[in-house]
Amino acid sequence: MGGKAAGSWLARGGVCLWVLLAAGAGQTREVPPWLDPALPTPRRVDLVLGQMTLDEKIGMVHGNFGSILRKSRPDDKRIGAGHVPGVPRLGIPDLYESDASLGVANGGTMRPGDVATALPASLATAASFDPDIAYEGGAMIGAEARAKGFNVLLAGGANLTRDPWNGRNFEYMGEDTWLTGVMAGAAIRGVQDNGIISTVKHFALNAQESGRYVLDARIEEPALRESDLLAFQLAMERGQPDSVMCAYNKVNGDWSCENDWLLNQVLKRDWGFSGWVMSDWGGVHSTAKAALAGLDQESGQELDQEVYFGEPLRAAVQSGAVPAARLDDMVRRILGRLFDRGLVDRPAPETPQAIDYAAHGQVARRAAEAGAVLLRNEGGLLPLSTALKRVVVIGGHADIGVLSGGGSSQVQAVSGTPLRLPIPNGPANLGFIKVTYHGSSPLAAIKARLPGAQVSYLDGHDPAAAAVAARDADAVLVFAEQWRTEAIDLESPALPDGQDALIAAVAAANPRTTVVLETGGAVLMPWLGKVGAVLEAWYPGDQGGEAIARVLFGEVDAGGRLPLTFPATEAQAPRPRVPGLANVKAAAAQQAAKPRTPGATTVDITGGVQGFDVPYVEGADVGYRWYERQGSKPLFPFGHGLSYSRFRHGGFTAQGGARPTVRFTVTNIGSRPGVDVPQVYAVAAGADGKPLRRLVAFKRVELAPGQSVTVTLPIDPRLIARYDAGAWTVRGGPVPVVLARDAGDAGQTASLTLPALTLKP
Ligand code: BGC
Repeated sequence: MGGKAAGSWLARGGVCLWVLLAAGAGQTREVPPWLDPALPTPRRVDLVLGQMTLDEKIGMVHGNFGSILRKSRPDDKRIGAGHVPGVPRLGIPDLYESDASLGVANGGTMRPGDVATALPASLATAASFDPDIAYEGGAMIGAEARAKGFNVLLAGGANLTRDPWNGRNFEYMGEDTWLTGVMAGAAIRGVQDNGIISTVKHFALNAQESGRYVLDARIEEPALRESDLLAFQLAMERGQPDSVMCAYNKVNGDWSCENDWLLNQVLKRDWGFSGWVMSDWGGVHSTAKAALAGLDQESGQELDQEVYFGEPLRAAVQSGAVPAARLDDMVRRILGRLFDRGLVDRPAPETPQAIDYAAHGQVARRAAEAGAVLLRNEGGLLPLSTALKRVVVIGGHADIGVLSGGGSSQVQAVSGTPLRLPIPNGPANLGFIKVTYHGSSPLAAIKARLPGAQVSYLDGHDPAAAAVAARDADAVLVFAEQWRTEAIDLESPALPDGQDALIAAVAAANPRTTVVLETGGAVLMPWLGKVGAVLEAWYPGDQGGEAIARVLFGEVDAGGRLPLTFPATEAQAPRPRVPGLANVKAAAAQQAAKPRTPGATTVDITGGVQGFDVPYVEGADVGYRWYERQGSKPLFPFGHGLSYSRFRHGGFTAQGGARPTVRFTVTNIGSRPGVDVPQVYAVAAGADGKPLRRLVAFKRVELAPGQSVTVTLPIDPRLIARYDAGAWTVRGGPVPVVLARDAGDAGQTASLTLPALTLKP
């Protein structure tokens, strides 16, 4: 590609030629100096920028929405979420962008054979509490993306879960700042280690889907710095993403993608981010304001009301409303990361390469197993014995596959798509989103483990019939599902479609009932006390059926712990009802009544929803901190999860100073190999001065019976500091730290003495 590019460059009479290599019999191949990998990136950027015309610069800062391209490009092998043309005459590659929260997203295309490996929900990855699992998943996606010719992945979801009903919770890493930072950072690193760019998204406070294009998220700066922003900051320090995607919503009055405070001050000044800020698709509202506030690239331009970074930006640069130096900065940021990541020197292949789907399927399976959370296990009902004679499996389409979450992250899985249903009562403009199942059947995997047994399946639509079938079974497995999607929030975290009544009826008939949950977040469980066991499998991905069976039969331990609180009732949550839902419904009713305008060229992605404020009253006290602050007891606390074995924690000590650490010993005192996730919480004053817990360290350990391990974990003082007057401030003095099994466990306490510290933001 370098040679071809150099040729066209030469044809235009470029200057400053540099002989790079001699190829064969006396031939020399001349390439421009910025294509010399030996030069430092800033020099390469300066050299190429010096050759670029205004048109070429403008061309790099706005890009198409993938669906538009699908219509216009015959060779659509690489059509993902977006495309930004490069500058071929200078050897600058096109950006081929794909969504990638859970795999190389291809859900919208549904081209036969266009499959990719689907990881489980990011919540499952988070529930593993294992950064290696997150890294491995990211690396798998990055490898598939490269083989398919993509070079920019819209991965790295790092929004904190503030509400149990958020439709997109399954794409994020839960409610905790440290867990999200560690896990999202590891996933991003995995992607980028393939020479592929990752984003981190959606910056910031895109905490709900209803009205996401119009809402204004309101929060005090210290609270935001200590919660969502710190999660991003940690993820970025660890993962070094080349790009940040700004969110749809406003933050404290300004759209995220034209928010000077968020982009210029926090991200670029305070955190020293040198990559580029790309907009979310349809998230741009202005030209000069956005450019001056720090937005570097407009994505999915057809979804904006104008191509703000096309002609209007050129005019703004020509008139001086946007300084030419600012346009250079935008381009410089993109070019710098293209060179650094190797996109210029080692471009993604032009034609698709072979992918080892078998090996990648194992990555997805390991993540699903590591993230499966055993919530309840009365009398050791699980693991199931392979000697069972009569087993009844009910509901959740367990006969054909496992559920996945909807939206831009949708993957058309390698294991197949046995069922794809329209959204129940869904709005017409979201017709591209479907309730999609991956083809890994739990029933088949269960049957495979019980060759001599009678294993029957009922779809669960008739609770009375299910109860009759369950009565005499040795074991009953009810699969319950709760579908979530981008763009729509749940109105309630309760299980839909009468599944509560089904579970209650079955459990009343047979207490040896296990409920397997396929959900994208917390659910209510009015039947909890009546069932024997509950396994939260989330959306378990491409190998979900196999992973669930392996955990149910104890071939692996149920190693996951909850990355978010499961409330006992909707009323316990900070916002029991979805803010702005009335506006969303009113607009939907209006749209439904309105005839479509033939030939309309712009799309109003807001759907006509009127703007509204969402005050984040919990501030930095997100998730378990909110429940602790309110004194309410959730159904299951953050961090909860059982093992098939038992563990003892001991020798807990804390070492203070500017680089604090904690140390403890974990021993498997059970009779099976197992997984434990000891968690360390600091108890420091929350916003209202009341001491609240905050996770400061965790470690997933796998131990054989009788085995012990002593671990020492560093603590980032920012997790204990308060954000005050432009800096992180630790007052100094003793801070209690608790070694616990979950956020609600009394655990063991030690004291950590910190010096007074002031740390840069
Ligand atoms: C989503 C992003 C996604 C983009 C491109 C948006 O609607 O919010 O997460 O990357 O679309 O598909």
